[in-house]
Amino acid sequence: MSREQLVAMARRNMEYADAGTVEQEPDVYKVAAANYYDPERFEAEKRQIFRRMPLVLAPSAELPQPGDYKAMEAVGMPVLLTRGQDGTVRAFINSCSHRGTAVVVDGTGNRRKFVCPYHGWTFTQRGELVGIAAEDDFGAIDKAEYGLTPLPVQERAGLIWCILDPDSDLSFDAFLGGYDDMLAHFGLENWHLYSKRTIRGPNWKIAYDGYMDLYHLPVLHKNTIGASASNQALYYPWGPHQRVISPNRQQDMEDIPVEDWPSEVLMVGVWTIFPHISIASFRGGGRSIMLSQLFPGETVDESFTTQYYIMEEAPDAEQAKEAEAMFDLLEKVVEDEDYATGFLQQRALKSGGREFVLFGRNEGGGQRFHAWLDRLLETDDKDLNRLFSGVNE
Ligand SMILES: [Fe+2]
Repeated sequence: MSREQLVAMARRNMEYADAGTVEQEPDVYKVAAANYYDPERFEAEKRQIFRRMPLVLAPSAELPQPGDYKAMEAVGMPVLLTRGQDGTVRAFINSCSHRGTAVVVDGTGNRRKFVCPYHGWTFTQRGELVGIAAEDDFGAIDKAEYGLTPLPVQERAGLIWCILDPDSDLSFDAFLGGYDDMLAHFGLENWHLYSKRTIRGPNWKIAYDGYMDLYHLPVLHKNTIGASASNQALYYPWGPHQRVISPNRQQDMEDIPVEDWPSEVLMVGVWTIFPHISIASFRGGGRSIMLSQLFPGETVDESFTTQYYIMEEAPDAEQAKEAEAMFDLLEKVVEDEDYATGFLQQRALKSGGREFVLFGRNEGGGQRFHAWLDRLLETDDKDLNRLFSGVNE
């Protein structure tokens, strides 16, 4: 079914390219400038969006083997992801049940057991407490009640989604609305993580707006990746998630029926995953994607983006050089062009001289993104499942 949807999108992209037109939203849309710098709004976004929505905390390629783990901070929450000997990914709050310190230092590695560095309590890949140092002296407790606190987690389409609220009952199915079936066409579960880097950026929404925005490509990026890029965009939403693509003739595929197009061609464009991920395809040392993962920083005017460069095939030495060059370019484009411009935007908006910013009829991606944020800030926990199921029905 999802391949048929990809083919339908490809046909539609070609029709628009032939006609030289794009779809437009009904109106130009206004977003309050304060939404980008108001500290109260920022706290509400962290609480109502980042602490309630499933977040992509890692590509599967970051912990491919049984025993692999990743410890990280996400929106102030210390998280431990483990892949058990059974291959299943689990997620926990990375906090010892004894006195609360992080059981595992942030980073990745491979372990069967996790020993807390403070007093030596030991936990399994499943989060079970199995060892208390000097247990007789400590006193009797029921170990079964003192495992690590599990977080809701799902591994789909080669991505690991986690909800930072242990009590959440939000349905991943409702939230994703079939978008994961589309993303599965990359086959990311078998790809290789080549490298990752983290970049400091402006307010997370200023940064994220850019990933849904093709309008700026031939202007801001004229000297790097945008010289011949189209500024036209077609948006395909699944609930809050959106694919962004330029109307495309796919000239080199002209003699091949669309049904036979390889997934590399059918998957072109940018796939955003609400609220904080973008996946864009590249060729640099072979077929590859850059997955950008954004998190709000400590304050409203800072964010952090981790770029994961993920390759379909593990590169040989020559391909690794090409991959490195492409990854260097992408880092430079985002840091020196997108985020440098974003910091200037942040400064100007914060000055208070502008009441609102505009998203044009050709910028539907940003329009929908900001509308979703507003909707989520107004939605109670108990209504979340209904909100998403309603959209995707
Ligand atoms: Fe950009």
